[in-house]
Order: sequence, then structure tokens, then C-alpha cells
Amino acid sequence: MSTPLTPEQLSELKAAAKRAAANAYCDYSRFPVGAAVRTTSGRVFAGCNVENVSLGLTNCAERTAIFTAVTEGFKRGDLQTLVFYMPGEKLYSPCGACRQVIAEFFHQGAEIIATSDARDDRRWTVAELLPEGFSF
Ligand code: THU
Repeated sequence: MSTPLTPEQLSELKAAAKRAAANAYCDYSRFPVGAAVRTTSGRVFAGCNVENVSLGLTNCAERTAIFTAVTEGFKRGDLQTLVFYMPGEKLYSPCGACRQVIAEFFHQGAEIIATSDARDDRRWTVAELLPEGFSF
């Protein structure tokens, strides 16, 4: 496991993820998701899902947040934890594409946390989300 977040750091990430969900472009699914990544240096980057009429081009909130951190200069191993927020009663786990991207940038022991207003959080390590993921 990597360094756990303090309760304040977790609240900050949850708030950033929820704020990002409000900007989701999700006219097709009507399922707004937000994500927030914390870097090991304490920066926070958020992202939302961005859909497309072709559906297959949809970018999930998790990947948007990670790509934003990378755009700002953060490298593989610089990302500590990712929280993603979704509406409704059920807490879903990240899609396969996001798992492979998460595995690219986070340590195997890093925590990925799903949160909503309705349920207790769900938490996984990267290794739990993508056991035996592709890597050279
Ligand atoms: N979605 C995410 O952004 N993250 C997830 O973890 C699950 C699904 C998005 C993709 C699509 O825009 C909508 O939610 C419904 O699948």
C-alpha cells in the first residue's frame, strides 16, 4: 500500500471529484462522473467523463483526471491516489480501459477509491483492479 490519505486530504479529493462531475458531458448516458487525482507532491487534478455521439470515443472521468495531471508535467509514479465520484445508489468500479491507464501511472499498491453521496466508499489497490495487467 502507498501512503494513506489523511481524512482532510480524502475530503479534498472527494470534493474535487464531485465538483468535476457537475461538468460532465454525458448527454447520452446521463451518468455524470467526476474524478480527482492527488500527486505525491500534494497537487490535485480533476476530470469528468466526456461523451461523444459515436459513444466509443467517450473518455471516462478517471482518464480525464490522469491525463490532466500528465499534461501538467506529472510522471509515472508521481500520482498517489485517485477518487472518483458517481451519482445514485450503486458504486461501480472503473472500466477496463481506465484500469490499464491507472496501472500505467500509479504504483501497484496505490489506492483507488469510489465514492457517492449514498454509500460507504469502495476501495481497491491498483493490483486488485488489474491483476496481471499487460506490461513489458
Ligand atoms: N464512466 C466513467 O467516467 N467512469 C467510470 O468509472 C464508469 C463509467 C462514464 C463513461 C460514460 O460516460 C458513463 O460513465 C456511463 O458509462
